[in-house]
Amino acid sequence: MISTKDLIKKRVLIIGSNGMLGQRLTEYFIKKNKFEIFCCSAEDESFYPDVEYKKINLAEKKDVKNLLRHFYPDVIINAAAYTNVDGCETNKELAWNINVLGVGYLAQFSRAFQSHLIHISSDYVFDGKNGPYTEKDIPNPISYYGRSKLASENVLKGSGSKYTIIRTNVLYGPAKFGRPDFVKWVVGSLKEGKEINIVTDQINNPTYLDDLVFAIGKIIELNKEGLYNIGGPEFLSRYDFTLRIARFFNLNKSLVNPILTGELKQPAPRPLKSGLITLKAETELSYKPHSIEESLLLMQKELNF
Ligand SMILES: NC(=O)c1ccc[n+]([C@@H]2O[C@H](COP(=O)([O-])OP(=O)(O)OC[C@H]3O[C@@H](n4cnc5c(N)ncnc54)[C@H](OP(=O)(O)O)[C@@H]3O)[C@@H](O)[C@H]2O)c1
Repeated sequence: MISTKDLIKKRVLIIGSNGMLGQRLTEYFIKKNKFEIFCCSAEDESFYPDVEYKKINLAEKKDVKNLLRHFYPDVIINAAAYTNVDGCETNKELAWNINVLGVGYLAQFSRAFQSHLIHISSDYVFDGKNGPYTEKDIPNPISYYGRSKLASENVLKGSGSKYTIIRTNVLYGPAKFGRPDFVKWVVGSLKEGKEINIVTDQINNPTYLDDLVFAIGKIIELNKEGLYNIGGPEFLSRYDFTLRIARFFNLNKSLVNPILTGELKQPAPRPLKSGLITLKAETELSYKPHSIEESLLLMQKELNF
């Protein structure tokens, strides 16, 4: 028998809906008729003309308050952030305002509106000396981006709001709009015959976007709180990941030059031996990430590479 509870749609607010993860979340929730969604991001318009959308600046307290007052969400997914790692290093104030103060406003108002706040964090909270990491390992960020993401987690922990933090790393997948993800960039460059320099000393477990979206769906369904790692099933260097992409798409591997992170002279240091152990998510959320080849096949089908 269908109960009244089953007929009431959960109200899900997606913040950063025009970003790489935000787009896939939007597409996922559009297809599910159990949810009513509202999207917001920094741009004037949504990439999805049929969804309810509002432009907001997460760093503006009144924007956040008005948004929640307007929609009264049951669940808020925060996929917005200042994600440019080197940009955060050189523009610390902006990074703090968006990544920390903005999350603080969300926490404050989600507590007042009794919403469940699901926030996305990063493996950059670690120093990369002895990864991969579990949820129990002690963070020690080495970049300002990493510091701001750790501070965002701490803001939530002290807020009294109902929250779930997801740490993830190296997102890739079939987001259709905006900046290309790593796979699209590699495929595009190699198809044009361009040489690309890729680091051999940064190790992660790249995360297929839709696996992360699945985990978020499970967290909502099972009403899970706390901290979860979400990553892919394979740990490898960015160079090896690039070779796997080149091999899968039958592209010229000799255009991929191995280099070391230090040679790039980037403003922000990177964690080298990183990545996230996902045993907790596998156990509690039935999380079963796709292999790299399975993910690339799904991307190929969807984007007609
Ligand atoms: N991508 C990765 O490999 C990775 C790895 C680990 C963790 N994460 C985390 O995962 C989350 C999603 O990442 P992503 O790759 O999808 O990021 P993204 O593509 O950069 O998307 C972030 C979105 O947030 C928007 N935004 C930025 N500042 C805002 C503000 N002040 N107010 C409202 N919206 C704002 C951005 O708009 P503009 O584009 O116009 O700035 C963009 O639409 C982030 O929390 C990120 O830290 C990502």
